[in-house]
Amino acid sequence: MTRPFGVKGKKRKHSQSKQYSEEEHQQPPPKKAVAEESKEPSPEPSPEPEPERESEPAPTEEDELSGIPIVPSEKNSTKPNVIFILEKASLEVAKVGKTYQLLNSDDHANFLRKNNKNPGDYRPDITHQSLLSILDSPLNKAGRLRSVYIRTEKGVLIEVKPFVRIPRTFKRFAGVMLELLQKLSISAVGKREKLLRTIKNPVTQYLPVNSRKIGLSYSSENLVDMDDYVSTISSNTDLVFVVGAMAHGKIETDYTEDYLAISGYPLSAAYCITRITGALERKWKIL
Ligand SMILES: C[S@@+](CC[C@H](N)C(=O)[O-])C[C@H]1O[C@@H](n2cnc3c(N)ncnc32)[C@H](O)[C@@H]1O
Repeated sequence: MTRPFGVKGKKRKHSQSKQYSEEEHQQPPPKKAVAEESKEPSPEPSPEPEPERESEPAPTEEDELSGIPIVPSEKNSTKPNVIFILEKASLEVAKVGKTYQLLNSDDHANFLRKNNKNPGDYRPDITHQSLLSILDSPLNKAGRLRSVYIRTEKGVLIEVKPFVRIPRTFKRFAGVMLELLQKLSISAVGKREKLLRTIKNPVTQYLPVNSRKIGLSYSSENLVDMDDYVSTISSNTDLVFVVGAMAHGKIETDYTEDYLAISGYPLSAAYCITRITGALERKWKIL
């Protein structure tokens, strides 16, 4: 069973595939987040978004964006859960020509160079692949994923609910992220619950007390076999994995207890996540 998203804040027409396919031709109104053409691209919502108003009206039919459904998963609140934090994600909006767009190295190389930016740093596809890897995992389908948090390079913190079905294609993903960064939240149609939303820093306030927080980096000297590592963790401990969603550099967090390399080779963030979810699925006998 699938259900569509709704975006609050601006009335929308029904056909969402049209909306996203025509993203280049739209000019969504900037909220507080976008750089002007030919200015430096540092255009996201402020790193500390305002708390959302509780009294927003329920979305109307016209608020609907069809085609991006919720995935049903088993709820498993009694067993330990997993949280992923994607650090340094490249999710930045700028006005390119006449429209606002999510900057990426393929489509905006000239624009970025003109603004003295390295196109290689603008890789929202890493976040896209990482989210698919987390949300598609049997671990999530078995109800053991509690949340995903994305912290952008500019410090904007985004919460992603585990039952969101992220668009499969990058173009549609970019459209959703553009909407999110401009409107600050995306809700399920007919429901108040936000599927994706910007929230206040720091991320640590949302982590379960006594959870084990584990940072991942190829540069760590502590190289472990992930199956062995998770077997040493008590079965009732919630786990938080911090993975970099950037092309270069390493995660810098002061809240992780462990700092691990899980392969002798540099991995993509998405593959690194697959190693983690695979090890937990084996530990918890999720097939
Ligand atoms: C594309 S890599 C970032 C590139 C960066 N040069 C690095 O290797 O950390 C994305 C993320 O995947 C994780 N990662 C990649 N290879 C890893 C490894 N061998 N062990 C642990 N984590 C790894 C790290 O969290 C890293 O930030």
